[in-house]
This record gives sequence, structure tokens and C-alpha cells, in this order.
Amino acid sequence: MNIQITAPKQLSGNISPPGDKSISHRAALLNSIATGPSHVSNFCMGDDRTSMLGCLKGLGVDIEKHDNCQISESSECFKIHGSGLHGLTEPEDILNAGNSGTTIRLVSGLLAGLNFFSVITGDESLRKRPMDRITIPLKRMGASIDGRDKGSLAPLSFHPSDLSGIEYTMPVASAQLKSCLMIAALFAEGNTVIHQPAESRDHTERMLSAMGAHVEKQDLTLTICKSDLQAKNVRVPCDVSGSAFWLVAACCHPDASITLKNVGMNPTRTGVIEVLKAMNGNISISNERDEGGEPVADITATTSEMKGIKIEGSVIPRVIDELPIISLAACFAEGSTEIRDAAELRVKESDRIKATVDSLGKLGANISELEDGMRITGGKKLNGAELSSHGDHRIAMMNGVAGLVSSGTTTILDSEVASVSYPSFWETLGNI
Ligand code: S3P
Repeated sequence: MNIQITAPKQLSGNISPPGDKSISHRAALLNSIATGPSHVSNFCMGDDRTSMLGCLKGLGVDIEKHDNCQISESSECFKIHGSGLHGLTEPEDILNAGNSGTTIRLVSGLLAGLNFFSVITGDESLRKRPMDRITIPLKRMGASIDGRDKGSLAPLSFHPSDLSGIEYTMPVASAQLKSCLMIAALFAEGNTVIHQPAESRDHTERMLSAMGAHVEKQDLTLTICKSDLQAKNVRVPCDVSGSAFWLVAACCHPDASITLKNVGMNPTRTGVIEVLKAMNGNISISNERDEGGEPVADITATTSEMKGIKIEGSVIPRVIDELPIISLAACFAEGSTEIRDAAELRVKESDRIKATVDSLGKLGANISELEDGMRITGGKKLNGAELSSHGDHRIAMMNGVAGLVSSGTTTILDSEVASVSYPSFWETLGNI
């Protein structure tokens, strides 16, 4: 579906974005292999959620939508009946992770440790994304895995095998890889030691510790061993990645004030707030609190005089999903912004470097592609254009925000792909 957007005179509103996708996925998966029932409320919305829950149900997990939720009345809640590490059953059919990298990589950590045959695949985009980053270390742990292109592309198949802990230095700072290995380690004999090149989102280690697993963290090294998990209720905070679109909209629009409510403020995720503040974004944080082991707050962003900066190094894994929308902010900043060390963007749901340069370039931005990032010189007015989503939810949403701050009419092609992580995105855009 195509959507046409013209810039409004003013932007304002209070928004509660959907539940955090990363936390929802981990809460569902880990509670499925924990002992006892649990409620997960404010679960993320969208197609990726359906993919993760579909895979878990395919493994025999009893998951029901729950209206009388113990921990929250106002949001969508799932009750998960955890049956322990060995309570899952052989799937009758191929598991389908759809468009979701987190689903295929985290569920693969589980399949590697289970004592039955299984196959997992995904959509056209996911079948192109690198899986050798998980299959190489999982095989070193003793997993028996096959896949296209020598096990580097989905579909992936798993045969029963006994796992042993390994010491592994991750070649990329990927939370999906780290989480996959930590989940496999729950089934492995001995310790698994994981050295990270940089900090990435740490929801898995937080949740595993809260569920009673033996996890130790020293600097960037994690050690984990075979552990039984106790089920845990989780109230998922709102997604900081979903919030980022509205923060940038408010910072770049000439007359704007937007407040995001109940947003997850885990420091491994708030790189976008640090970066926008460093770009001179008017962003204030209020009502800071802790909910179920994760920090939460409200965030207000208002019209800002942005300035260009260099974004590189260890902040990159903490801002990886927000780099396209930050690039849009850079178009409104004085001076130039350079994003480096971000080659991972090329292996996301689309090649996000190419997709971002394509969209912002069509709007008239001064932007160029670098091997591992982008260079943007701000100050050129953006003019509406017809923008492709490249089949990628975050690019579709960036295009939508671009429509709010460009002159003339912006046409968003394939707007429906936003539903992968944010089904109410276009409705909210209309409301503000
Ligand atoms: C995610 C980790 C990130 C991120 C993705 C969600 C997760 O991927 O891009 O949207 O939930 O673990 P990588 O770990 O591959 O960088």
C-alpha cells in the first residue's frame, strides 16, 4: 500500500510505542524452557512477534493470549506454560522465522541443544542473511547443523547431538549471536565463555540471571553453564527503537513537541538518545524508574538546532537499528555527520546503507555511501519524492518521518512492511 504524506505545521502528542521487540522475544523463548507458568505483558506487536511465537508453538509450547493478565490490564499479554529445558517436542513441520533475524538466531541456539530433528527457515530477506556467524560456533560446541551454502544460509536443519561448552571470541558485536550461544550453553556440558568485541544489548544475560541461570560477566566476557530456569513474569517496556522515529521527527520539525511514554532505557539500547543529544537534540528524560530489572522512563523531544557529529566505534552496536533514522536527523544538522564502523547495516533486513542513501538522496539530501557507513552534509532542504521501503520496516518508517519534515508530498511505497515491528505506526503518524 502506498501512503502520501505532506508536512504538518505542527507536530505534537503523547505516544506509547509497542513493547520492546528484543525483550518480548527473549521473555517468550526463555519462559518456554523455564519451569512454571508466566505472564509476558505489553508484548511487542507485529509480524516478528507472530514469527517467534509460531516457532515456539511449533516446538509444542503452550502459549495463550491472556485477557486477565496478572501483571498488567491495559496491554496485550501472553501466558506461557514453561515445561523446562527438555519439555519441548519435535516439530511436525518446518519452523518459520519469517523476516525476524532475532527469531532464527535465538531459536537456533535452542534447536542445537534439543534431542530431536528440526528445520528452521525464513522469508526471502532472512534467507539471504548470514547464518555462519551462529552455525560455526554452534558446530564447535558439537551441534549437528546443515544449511544452504555449507551451513551459512537458511533453511538450517538440526540433528540431535550433545553439546560441550567452548571459549569463543565473537567476530561481530551481535546480540543475536551472543544470545544464540548463551541459549545453547544452557544445554552444554561445562562452561561456555564468550568474548565480545564491544557491548551489545544485554537483555538475554539480564533475563537469564533473573531466571536463576549461572551467568557471570566480567568486562566484555560472559561465562555461562548448564542451568535450569525458573519462569518469570515480564512487563515489557516500550521499544526505544520504535521511539527513535518520533524523537527524530520532533528534533527536525520546526514546531514540535512529542513525549514517549514508558520507554525502555537499558543503557545498551539508548545509544540513539546519546547520539541525538550530542547532535544538540532537545531531549529530556523524566519519570525514571525500574520495572522488572529494566530501567524505564518517559522521553520528550522538541524542535532542535541540530549539529553534525562523527558516530563510530563502540556506540555503533548500541545504536545499530537507529542509524537510518539518525541519518535523516543529520540532514537537518549544521555541518557534516559521518557514520563509520557500521558495515553490519549491510546485512540487516535490507542493505540499510544503500536503502538509506537511496531514500535520502531522492529527497535531495547531500549523502554519500561509505563501505562501512555514510557521510551526510546537512542544511539542504528536503523535497518530497517517491520512496521505496526495500522491504524493510525500519526504512519504511524512516521514509514516513522524512515525509513529516520534507516540503511537498512524499509517497511511501510498500508502507505495510512497517507492521513487522510497528503495526500502528501510520495511525500514530496521522495522530501527531
Ligand atoms: C537484536 C539485535 C540486533 C538488532 C536486531 C535485534 C536482538 O541485531 O539489529 O534488530 O534482539 O538481539 P544483531 O545482534 O545481529 O546486531
